[in-house]
Amino acid sequence: MNILITGITTGFGFITTKKLLKNGHTLLSPVRGGWDRLKEDLDFVQAKQNGKLIVVDLDLTNSSRLNELKFIIETQFKFRLDVLIHNAGLGILMPFELQNENDIRQQFDVNFFAPLEITRLLLPALRFSKGKIICVSSVAGLVSIPFYSTYCASKYALEAWAESLSSELSHQGIPICLVEPGGYVTEFANRSRTKMKFEIPNHLKDIYQKTLNGFHNMMESKSKAGQNPIHVANRIVKLAESPHPKFRNIMGIDAWFAYVASRILPRETFRKTISLAYRFLVNRFSSDNARVSE
Ligand SMILES: NC(=O)c1ccc[n+]([C@@H]2O[C@H](COP(=O)([O-])OP(=O)(O)OC[C@H]3O[C@@H](n4cnc5c(N)ncnc54)[C@H](OP(=O)(O)O)[C@@H]3O)[C@@H](O)[C@H]2O)c1
Repeated sequence: MNILITGITTGFGFITTKKLLKNGHTLLSPVRGGWDRLKEDLDFVQAKQNGKLIVVDLDLTNSSRLNELKFIIETQFKFRLDVLIHNAGLGILMPFELQNENDIRQQFDVNFFAPLEITRLLLPALRFSKGKIICVSSVAGLVSIPFYSTYCASKYALEAWAESLSSELSHQGIPICLVEPGGYVTEFANRSRTKMKFEIPNHLKDIYQKTLNGFHNMMESKSKAGQNPIHVANRIVKLAESPHPKFRNIMGIDAWFAYVASRILPRETFRKTISLAYRFLVNRFSSDNARVSE
């Protein structure tokens, strides 16, 4: 099959790409910094030499260049695209008041607007091949979590779009599915924590310093104890190769727990429980006994 997948340098995308290559598929991927980012990996080098992996040096936030992907599909894939996997993503995870507008917009560009734009460009090729679309969303697209406010908003938006589009495209033979993981060990949390290491403006220090330290430490400990990303990669490969992929794919015990609780408990009770649980956890991790952020 011919497959376009985003976000292959690390995490779910990296593992999924290796598996898809092993299964004999041909892949196209936009990568910031291009081939140089992947040249250390022997499987990728071999796939490039065999023409099984095509990499375009492309930042997904650069919407004016996304049509380069369409050009490659028309010329090198002869208009055939069997699977489109929107995997790239980033999380600005911290108290809302400390987030800056540029970061929030970049997060929406990568998590939401890039998948929309790429899908619009490639729908003709997907229709031609009766292809499918896989969106890597998050349980944060189903459940609202403190400090994840704008990340949740970007993933809720992706979910709403995908669910509506699935009905629009069903009669055209183009299935869409969502993968909704909980916490898995990838570069995702590290990248978000890097964003947290900044000077809090003086007038907000009293309000947020302790909370941010606590949240930072909590993320660090959670990311070490996170689940194995191989399970998510296996699911993405299974969906890519299945003739009838399942629409919703909640992944991980934490995601299932949060999702089921959000559906069983009355809305207000659930919201209060999440709020209390986070306050308790952040306090615990910001206490003198907890490791203070680097
Ligand atoms: N890990 C989790 O616990 C978790 C849970 C739920 C959902 N998710 C979702 O899973 C997906 C994959 O995340 P991951 O956990 O594998 O994280 P990751 O290891 O940080 O990988 C993210 C990928 O997205 C790419 N990317 C980010 N911004 C980009 C841009 N502007 N242009 C091109 N590529 C860009 C990154 O490339 P660079 O190397 O160039 O930055 C990287 O390849 C994301 O959509 C994320 O929201 C993750």
